[in-house]
Amino acid sequence: GGEGHVEDFAFSFEGPFGTYDRNQLQRGLQIYTEICSSCHGLKYVPIRTLADEGGPQLPEEQVRAYAKNFEVWDEELRDYREATSNDHFPESADENAPDLSLMAKARAGFHGPYGLGINQLVRGMGGPEYIASILTGYTGKEKEEAGTIFYENTAFPGGWIAMAPPLAGEDVEFADGHSNELHHEAQDVAAFLMWAAEPKMMARKQAGFVGVLMLTVLTVLLYLTNKRLWAPHK
Ligand code: HEM
Repeated sequence: GGEGHVEDFAFSFEGPFGTYDRNQLQRGLQIYTEICSSCHGLKYVPIRTLADEGGPQLPEEQVRAYAKNFEVWDEELRDYREATSNDHFPESADENAPDLSLMAKARAGFHGPYGLGINQLVRGMGGPEYIASILTGYTGKEKEEAGTIFYENTAFPGGWIAMAPPLAGEDVEFADGHSNELHHEAQDVAAFLMWAAEPKMMARKQAGFVGVLMLTVLTVLLYLTNKRLWAPHK
């Protein structure tokens, strides 16, 4: 029971200067597409953003081809049609599977100590760590309750999750031959979901850095001005 155990995975985007790893986001997108998307949606994510700088950054024509993997509901046609890059990803196909657009920011992996939040200050909120830990946290035990099968999972709060283990390792083949071991797959798809939830993280960090730099310059100038103004009275 209680909070689950979350492993502190090391991600490239951690820290004040951390950035997304484009190849990792592309691998994560592949895992999402081939495995997670059969149940989970990403309804707040516009497909065209796959071409954006700082993200998976697929070439435009590849994004257009990619969009055709999905069908979306068209209000005007009152029917389903092939998606284009101007559409969002579809909603969850399985009504019990939550939408993953914001999942990496909706869940905190790290807590405490004693409700002080110091772990989050030092290690981050832990959203992507939580997702990767869920995917690697299955013990293999199952139980049935009221007609639903629950799977024991060391990261899931309460310890039993209604999602069957979606990854076992070697679930996808990467074109670049990158490791498809369970631990790597889990981390790659978690990184992709972090990007989905916060696509502008790199721009935000950069703006923050410029802001701190300007305030530092302003501090020095004010210090010197202050010295000069008071010099005659000393
Ligand atoms: C829940 C991720 C594949 C069905 C979840 C949660 C995450 C997640 C992060 C939420 C846990 C929470 O609420 O804190 C993924 C990823 C997948 C994947 C990254 C691909 C690698 C699938 C597949 C299915 C599925 C293929 C259906 C066969 C569900 C269901 C829940 C769930 C039903 C709700 C479980 C509960 O609340 O007990 N998934 N999932 N997922 N997922 Fe998946």
